[in-house]
Amino acid sequence: MIDMRDWKRTHTCGALRGMDAGSGVVLVGWLHRLRTHGGVNFADLRDRYGMTQVVLRDEAEMHGRSVTGLRGEFVLGIRGRVSARPDGMVNPKMATGEIEVLADEVVVLNESEVPPFVIEDETNANEDLRLKYRYLDLRRTPMKNNIVLRHRVAQAAREVLNGEDFLEVETPTLVKQTPEGARDFLVPSRLQPGKFYALPQSPQLYKQLLMISGLDRYYQLARCLRDEDLRADRQPEHTQIDIEMSFVTEDDVFALCERLMSHLFRTVLDRDLEVPFRRLTYAEAMSRYGSDKPDLRFGLEIVEVGDCLQTSGLKIFQDALSSGNTICAIRVPGAAGWSRKEIEAFGSIMEEAGGRGVLWTKAEAGGFTGGVAKHLDESCRDSLRERLGIGDTDLVLLAADKGSRVNVLLGVLRRPLAEKLGIIPEGVDAFAWVTEFPLFEWSEEEDKWESTHHMFCMPRCEDLDYLDSDPGRVRGQVYDLVYNGIELGSGSIRCHLRSLQEKIMKRVGFPAELAEERFGFLLKAFEHGAPPHGGIALGLDRLVMVMACRETIRDVIAFPKTTTGGSLVDGCPSRVPARELEELGLTQSELKKD
Ligand code: AMO
Repeated sequence: MIDMRDWKRTHTCGALRGMDAGSGVVLVGWLHRLRTHGGVNFADLRDRYGMTQVVLRDEAEMHGRSVTGLRGEFVLGIRGRVSARPDGMVNPKMATGEIEVLADEVVVLNESEVPPFVIEDETNANEDLRLKYRYLDLRRTPMKNNIVLRHRVAQAAREVLNGEDFLEVETPTLVKQTPEGARDFLVPSRLQPGKFYALPQSPQLYKQLLMISGLDRYYQLARCLRDEDLRADRQPEHTQIDIEMSFVTEDDVFALCERLMSHLFRTVLDRDLEVPFRRLTYAEAMSRYGSDKPDLRFGLEIVEVGDCLQTSGLKIFQDALSSGNTICAIRVPGAAGWSRKEIEAFGSIMEEAGGRGVLWTKAEAGGFTGGVAKHLDESCRDSLRERLGIGDTDLVLLAADKGSRVNVLLGVLRRPLAEKLGIIPEGVDAFAWVTEFPLFEWSEEEDKWESTHHMFCMPRCEDLDYLDSDPGRVRGQVYDLVYNGIELGSGSIRCHLRSLQEKIMKRVGFPAELAEERFGFLLKAFEHGAPPHGGIALGLDRLVMVMACRETIRDVIAFPKTTTGGSLVDGCPSRVPARELEELGLTQSELKKD
C-alpha cells in the first residue's frame, strides 16, 4: 500500500498554468484517458477541479507497473515537473492547456474495474445504470457541475438570509403526524411500542412555533419527506429553502424573495432579474393561461368567446351556450399553414387531458377556412376577429366545456403549441407571483372541502364573512412563486388566531375534538401571544434544476430515488430482520410478501 504521506498533492488537476512551468509538483487523480502520440504516452489526469495532461516518460519510475497496465479510472499519483507546451500545442479549451506535467514517478493508488459506462460529458447509458453507479455518474463533468451549482445556490441563499437577520434553525425529523396534503412516511417507536413518528412533509408547524417563540425571522434548508407519486419534478425527499417571518405582509415576503432570487441569479449565473416580479391573481392566471403556474415566456392567451358565437349554427356551440358552458379560444399566430393532421394532434393532447378534442378554423386570404369556418356567419367572424385580434395566417383553436375546465384544457395546449411555433425564447427568466389562491377547493373524491395549500393559511380579510356561507369564495393570503411554468415556491400569511384556525380546521374535516388531538399543541401555542406571521418555502431542487437547465430534479440531487421510490445505489427500501420488527412491535404477517 502506498503511504499517502509521501504523496501529498501540491496542486489539483485544474490548477496549473503557464506561470508554473519549471515547478516540481505532485498530482493525484483518476486516469481519464491514456493516448500514445508519436511514440509518447500521454495521460489525462482528472479530479473535481479539472484535467491535466501528463507525459508518461519512458524514464519515469513506475513502481513495478507498466504504462500498458494502466486503465481508465485507475487512481494515480504523479510526481514530475511542469513544462510549458510548445506554441501550437497549447489547448485553449482546457484551463490547464498551457502546460503539461513531465512525470518522473507514477504510482497506482488504486485500480478500477472497467466502468459500466464511459466517464464523459455525454453518455447514452440508461438512467437506472447511472443511478446504480451514481458515484461514477457524479464523476462526469455535467453532473459534478450540477452538484457544485447546488452548493453555490445554497450558500448564496444563506448569504442573503444571514445578511437580513434571519436565524438558521433546525427542526425535528421525527415529528407528530400532522397531515399537510401528501401521505406521511411513518417511523415506529421502539420505546413506545404501537406509536409512530412521522417524517416531516415540511417544517410548517415548527416554523410557526418559532415565530411564537419570538425568533422573528427563521430559515432552514430543510429536508422534506412525502410519500407521494413521483414525477420529474417530485422526489420523496426534497429540500426547501424554508422561510418564516413575524409581523409581515405578503408584500414583505415577495420583496425578500425578489432580493433572494436576484442575488442567486446574479452571483451564480451572472444574470440580472427584472424585479419586482409580475403579479397575477389565481383567477387571472386560470382564466388567461388555464394554469396556476403559467409559462409567461410567450403569449397564446386563452380568451372567452362564447358571446361571439351566439349566431353560429354549430350544435356544440349552441349546446354550450344554452347549458351555460364556456367557450374559449387561443389564437395561434402564423399557424394557418398547419395541416389538419398537425392541428388534430393538439386535439389528441386535449383528449388525453380529459377534454373532448379541439375545434378550429384558419384565417386566410381575408376569410375563414377549414374546421368550423362554415358554421361562422359574418357576425361571428367579425366579433371573433376583434376579440382575438385575428390576422391573416392565424389558426384559431376553440373548445367548449364546463366553467373554468375549458381554460384548463386549452391551457394544456399552450406549451406544446409554443414549442411547435418555436416561440419560447432562450434565456428568459419569467418569474411571477400568483396570488389570492382560494383557501378551499371542493374534492369530488373526498366529497368535502380541502385546503388548496394547507390549513394554516390566513383568509383575506375581505372574504372572512364567506367562511361559513360560501367557502369556495374565500380567497387566502396564499401565493406561489412561478418560473417559466414551474411552481418554484409556495407560501402564505398564516392564521395566528385560535378561533379562526379552529373554524378553518372544522371546514376541512377536523371538528374540535379531532383538531385538538392532532393539532392541540399548535392551538395551545396560539393562546400564548402568537404574533401575526407568514412565510414561504422555495423548492431548492426545482430551483437548481431550472438554473442548471435540466429537465428533472434527479439530475441535481446527489442520490435521488427512482419513480418507484427506490434507491438503486444502496437498494433501499429493503426488508429488515423479523427480530428488529418484533422489537418495534410489528410482525411479519402484517407486511405484504413479494
Ligand atoms: P409546498 O408543499 O407547496 O409548501 O412546497 C413548497 C415547494 O417545495 C417544492 N416541492 C417539491 N420539490 C420536489 N419534490 C417534491 N415532492 C416537492 N413538494 C414540494 C415545490 C414547492 O413549491 N410548508 C409549505 C410552505 C409554506 O407554506 O411556507 C410547503 O411545504 O417547489
